[in-house]
Formats: sequence, structure tokens, C-alpha cells
Amino acid sequence: MQLIEQVRNQVTTVLASLTSQPEQHAQRVTATRDAALGDYQANVVFALAKELSRQPEELAQEIAADLRKCDLFEHVSVAGKGFINMRMKPSLILDLLVTAASDGRCGVDTTHPTLTYVVDFSSPNVAKPMHVGHIRSTVIGDAIAKMLRFVGHHVITDNHLGDWGTQFGMIIYGFKNFVDQAAFEKSPVEELSRLYRLTQQLIEYQKSVRDIDAMITITADAQAACDAAIAAAAAKPNDKALEKASRAAQRKLQSMQADVESVQGKMQRVQADATLKQLADQHTDIEAAALRETALLHAGDAGNLALWNQFMPQCLSAIQGIYDQLNVSFDYQLGESFYHDRLAPVVEELKLKNLATQSEGAVCVFLDGFDAPMIIQKNDGAFLYATTDLATVAYRIEKFDPDAILYVVDHRQSEHFQKLFAVLRATGCELDLRHISFGTVLGKDGKPFKTRSGDSVGLESLLQEAIDRAHAIVCDPERLQKASLQMDDAEKEMIATSVGLGAIKYADLSHNRTSDYVFDLEKMVQLEGNTATYIQYSCARASSILRKLQNEAIDSSAQDVPSSDQIEITHPVERTLAIQLLRFEEAIHVALADFQPNILADYLYETARQFASFFDQCPVAKAESEIAGRTRRLLVNLTRQVLSQGLDLLGISVIERM
Ligand code: ARG
Repeated sequence: MQLIEQVRNQVTTVLASLTSQPEQHAQRVTATRDAALGDYQANVVFALAKELSRQPEELAQEIAADLRKCDLFEHVSVAGKGFINMRMKPSLILDLLVTAASDGRCGVDTTHPTLTYVVDFSSPNVAKPMHVGHIRSTVIGDAIAKMLRFVGHHVITDNHLGDWGTQFGMIIYGFKNFVDQAAFEKSPVEELSRLYRLTQQLIEYQKSVRDIDAMITITADAQAACDAAIAAAAAKPNDKALEKASRAAQRKLQSMQADVESVQGKMQRVQADATLKQLADQHTDIEAAALRETALLHAGDAGNLALWNQFMPQCLSAIQGIYDQLNVSFDYQLGESFYHDRLAPVVEELKLKNLATQSEGAVCVFLDGFDAPMIIQKNDGAFLYATTDLATVAYRIEKFDPDAILYVVDHRQSEHFQKLFAVLRATGCELDLRHISFGTVLGKDGKPFKTRSGDSVGLESLLQEAIDRAHAIVCDPERLQKASLQMDDAEKEMIATSVGLGAIKYADLSHNRTSDYVFDLEKMVQLEGNTATYIQYSCARASSILRKLQNEAIDSSAQDVPSSDQIEITHPVERTLAIQLLRFEEAIHVALADFQPNILADYLYETARQFASFFDQCPVAKAESEIAGRTRRLLVNLTRQVLSQGLDLLGISVIERM
């Protein structure tokens, strides 16, 4: 059981004679910020004193006296006007350390009750190569699934591939009109991706040509409004409201000007290239034509279906290459195409339940609290992304009977999921449905991470770059020589790969998922600082200490776990490290409370740091006494287990020596 749970239970018992809701009050037990005060702090007194109309100080003393009688604590004190600090008993710490080091799970229990989770993650659109944006859903989803499994839940992972959407209409159109057969035969995925980008560029161009005049007109209006607002504010210098309005008008104008510039840029890029310009002139209807190709595919057109069947294996194998490299796998990979036959019945059912209605030719579900309805069938009969998601939930309920479905998807889809969940609740669905949303990956300039030409950055080349940079740092000959590590090329390659990929995953996971973060490869692979490299290195260091003890016959039982009466904590940093190690379970549970892998990442970083100060201050092989040596060996052993288990939960590989 989590250490904090044990403390809460004890506090609950003590509070039971004072209040009818002792458990609720006991939730206010937290870890102390300052270890000198104790390990845990119960901030229960103020709320209770209010409830009971009593003096906080006196109440605190009474509760503290009762807590002193329990066998968990060595010391209980009252600080300030009623903060109760508790310090765990050494014998308890020793017992828990021994259990944690020997149960193969670092002392982490399996949760009761066990729930069934479907985790929908990664889910890229397969018609184009994976880009940097896909890293987030893939690694966050994988870590959440691993943590849920580790605490005992039943987890089904499903990669909801975008394999049926308008992108396929685009590559089919591109293939029929622009394919370079030789290039396709040589490297199909590259050619398909070129066709996708070309078609998209031509579509964007036509849109730009269509929209630019109107955009310029409204921007001119905004310019006039902005000038007026600035003049009005200047006329009354102390008027806060006018000043605010003027600033708002300027911001609006700036953003409209940026849009105009971006659209003009798109047009210029096509116009400056004679071949592109010629294609644009020949394919003025390209947007509608690509949609027609999608509609034909969905209607079962033999030609388009044959093309789809020809393209799919190529697209899938490119994506699989990335998953293999990242060591991420799925229980199911049911893409949008899988649900094709289930879409019409979904619409029918919602109509029958009177939830869906015909509006301007489309079938819509109107929802309270939303400006626009959810459209589930367009007036040309086509189904939408939302329709597929409704069918997917129905299928998942039928097949997996889950308690919860987690969607690890970009924050820009939050409205989609709010509507989806609202429709499902209107149908009586009681599942716990969650959008595990995340922010954007930014470049060093603070804007969404793009290549110079404005494309998204491909994942494949990025992973390779991370591995190369990791190689330069961790396999630096000087460093290896200093650490007296002799490695052949294969081992170096293996380490660089683990460090490079670990760095990318950790950089993503260690940020709060809802924030944007700056993708900075150089920083990510550093040996010092909050990086995977540092944690992998700490773990390798623990392994090497244990190996050394064993190999040099200092201690032939270095990997064995002593019993609690054979160990003793004497040094304060031993104690700090011990308590930190015993909080592993707590870290996982807090991380899972709102599905935030960064909490586990922070915990591992903090553990590695505490291990470093322990290592500086407490010799293991040359310990002052036999018992001190044995205790430290156990701490090193458990540190190694916690760090490697923790890295594993984050999907990061462990290195035995580096
Ligand atoms: N393929 C979608 C995209 O790339 C994400 C799908 C997320 N999952 C879902 N069930 N909608 O935007």
C-alpha cells in the first residue's frame, strides 16, 4: 500500500471520534516540503476546528497526541497554528524497503478494483508520413497505458488510424493525375507523400486565389477600424477602455495581416514555379475533384478501392517502421476504414432515438451548450469523422465492455470530443470518456515546429538526428576513456539509440501535457539536467556499483535482499533516499489521477538527484561498518529497480552501463 495511504488511514482512524467524515479530512495529508519537519503533513486542523467550533491549536495537540500512540510514527509535532508533521518510524521504513526490493514490483500494489480502459492513441492519418506532432500522442498514450497496466488495470490499446478520410481522395487524385511511375516503383511511400503534398498545395492555391480579394477587403476595413480606435484612444489619454479597445483592434489587424501574408506566400510559391503554375491552371477544380475521389472510394468504386488496397500496405509499413523504432505496439489497429459499414446504422439509430434531425439537407445532432450542432451526415450523403467516432464507441462497448475510453489527441480537437461525449451521454452512455489533450511541439522560435519550407518535420529524420547527437555525447571517446569503459561499435550504437530515442520521449513526457514545449534536441540528450540521459545514467551507475561489488568479490550477495533486522539507516541522505524510493507508488497514482506522465518523470528525476547526493556522501564498498554497507547496497539495488521500472513505464530503455 502507498506510504501516503497508510498515513491517511492512520489519520482517518484518529479523526473518527471527531467527525463523521474522517476519510475526507484525511485527504489533506500531503508530503512535507521540508524533510527536516517530517515526511508527511496533515493539514486537517483548520477545517476541522471550523466544523467543531474549536481552537485550532488545542485541537492540533489533541490529534497529535493520538497520532503519537500509533505505531507508524517516530515523531509527531505541531507547527505554526496547527500543521501536524509526522516522521515515519525507522523500523517501518526498513520493512517497506525490504518488501519493495524483493517483490519484483518495487512495492507497488495492484489496484482494486480493476477497471477496463481502452486507450485510443497515436492514430495518425496514414496517407502522409508521420511528423513531429505525432510523437506526443504516441509516447503519452503509451506511457499512460503502461502505467495503468502496471497498477493492475485491464488495458486495451487501439491505434485508430486515419485510413479512410479525404487524404486518400487526395492521393488517389494525385496518383491518377501526377504520378511519376518510376519514382513510385522505386520508393512508393516517398512518391505517395509527394503526391499528397502536391495535391494539397494545389488545393491550397485554389482556395487562396478564391479568398484573397475578400481577405484584403476585410483587412482594409480592420485597418480603418484600427486607425479609428487608435485615434479615439489618443484623444482621451486616460481612458482605460478606449486604450484596451485600441490594443485589441491592433492585435486583430496584425493577425489578419499575417493571414493575408501567409495566403499570398502560398500563391507566390506556386506562381514562381512554372511547372506548378501550369498544373494549377489545368486543375482548377482540384478540391472538389479530390472530394469526389473520396466519395467514390467510400461508395465502393472498384478502381479507387484497388488503388487504396495498393497504397495501404505501403503507408502502413512506413508507419510501422517508426513504431518499431520507438518500441510502441498496439493491441488493435482498427482504422477508420474498419467502421465504414457501421456508419449508416449509427445515423439511423440516432434518428430513431429522435436525437438526430435533418437540417439544411444534413443530418445533425443539436446539443445544449454548443453553438453548432454535430453533423453526422452531409447533404451529399457522406459521413464524417464524428460519425466514425460514434461507431467506434459502439463497437468498443460491444467488443471490450470498457469502463473508460481515453482519447490521447491534440488539444485542437477538444470541441470535437466535447460534442462526441455530449452526444454519447444523450444516448445514455455512462462510460468514463476522457479527452487526454496535449499542446503543440514548438521550434526554438516559439512557433509550431516546421522545416524551413514550412512543412511539418518528419519523424524518421528527427529520430535519426537524436541518435546521432546522443552518439556524439555519450560515446565521446574522451568520456568513455575517463569512465574506463571499453565498448565495441555495436554497444555504442545500442547506447546511442537508447539515449537518443529516450531523450525525445522524455522531453515530451516531462512537460505537462497540456502545455506547448520547445523541441530542442541539443538540450534533450545532455547528461546533466532533467533529461532521460541523466536518469538512464543514474540507473547504469547503480547497476555498475552492484556489479562491481559482486565481481570484485567485495560482496557476493550484492543483488540479494537482506532482512530488515540486518540493516540500519544512519545517515540523513540514506533516509531521504529511502523515503523517496518508497514514494514510487504514490508518484504513479498521482500521475494517473489526471493522466499526467510528467509527474512520474519528475519523480524519477528527483530520485536520480537524491541518488547522486547519496552516492557522494555514502560509500558502499568502503562503508564504515558491515551493516552500513549492507543497507547502502540495498538502497542502490532498490534505486536501480525503481529507476528502471519507472523508465520502462515511460517507454524508455534501460542501459546496463554507459
Ligand atoms: N486521425 C486523427 C488525426 O490525425 C486522430 C484520431 C484520434 N482518435 C479518434 N478516435 N478520433 O487528427
